[in-house]
Amino acid sequence: MGLLDGRVAIVTGAGHGIGRGHALELAKEGATVLVNDLGTSLKGEGQGRDADLTVNLIRERGGTAEANYEDVADFEGAGRMVAQAVDSFGRLDILVNNAGIARDATIWGMGESDWDSVIRVHLKGTFAPTHHAVSHWRALSKAGQDVSTGRIVNTTSGAGLVGNFGQANYTAAKAGIAAFTMTVSLEVFSMGVTCNAIGPAGATRMAASIPGAGIEAREPDEFEEWDPMDPSLSSPVVAWLASDKAAHVTGQVIRAVKDEIVLMQPWSNGPTIRKAGRRWEAKELTALMNADVFGSRAPGLRY
Ligand SMILES: NC(=O)c1ccc[n+]([C@@H]2O[C@H](COP(=O)([O-])OP(=O)(O)OC[C@H]3O[C@@H](n4cnc5c(N)ncnc54)[C@H](O)[C@@H]3O)[C@@H](O)[C@H]2O)c1
Repeated sequence: MGLLDGRVAIVTGAGHGIGRGHALELAKEGATVLVNDLGTSLKGEGQGRDADLTVNLIRERGGTAEANYEDVADFEGAGRMVAQAVDSFGRLDILVNNAGIARDATIWGMGESDWDSVIRVHLKGTFAPTHHAVSHWRALSKAGQDVSTGRIVNTTSGAGLVGNFGQANYTAAKAGIAAFTMTVSLEVFSMGVTCNAIGPAGATRMAASIPGAGIEAREPDEFEEWDPMDPSLSSPVVAWLASDKAAHVTGQVIRAVKDEIVLMQPWSNGPTIRKAGRRWEAKELTALMNADVFGSRAPGLRY
């Protein structure tokens, strides 16, 4: 008995890396998987049939899977992807938005296409599949069908939650995905559908591209024993979130890195000063901000 027997899942960007780990894990737990991958380079260039690699691995292990080669940030293509899952397997329960690219540069060296392409693949590439999956569930729900097996798991990143030098495009997209997750969780709540985000990690080509990190890119199926760099270490959290066991968990951001699972706290109010219904004068703020808001903390120096 798997946690996901009878469920149908889409995992985007699942030809390699972290997405491949999720697809293998969901299949191991009994789900049928539509393995999406456009087959691009790390920078988002080119196309290929990389989804087939993961489909073959799932089939070799006795699971059921099919490939999909759409660009997740193509609105119509994302619609075709959702339709393929429903047409091929008769239903859709789980959407894991994982596909991503990186074009790291400092803000002064970041060109317009670096910004546009990273925001497009991560942010629109999360919006478009989610829009089509939720529209599908909403139509069924309106027709009286129970869709409370519906699960969305998005992919943010530690860097997106605290910032990271040289990744303004990527971190803006990943922070956006965390906010998107919270909003969508509210909108799908009444159908019993959940929407959460994970912050994964692992020695993928994306991690290996970080200058000076000394990381060698490896696929999750190349690890035979526990290893802190295994890109599939967050996959059990994804499978759990996708199951009945996590029906009560929604709107959450959970990082799963190495041997830790960390519930991230959302933005919350910090030290506050108030001036009884009157406007602040800029000149009076220096003393007040330093003493009562920042206290001993030096603003801007967080590390
Ligand atoms: N590797 C890490 O340490 C790390 C840390 C935090 C978050 N993440 C996130 O995890 C996710 C997976 O990253 P990874 O490290 O496995 O990278 P990866 O480059 O190994 O895999 C990403 C996959 O997405 C596919 N893809 C790219 N653009 C696509 C598109 N438009 N449509 C469909 N598929 C597309 C690629 O072909 C590739 O197979 C990303 O969202 C990434 O931002 C990774």
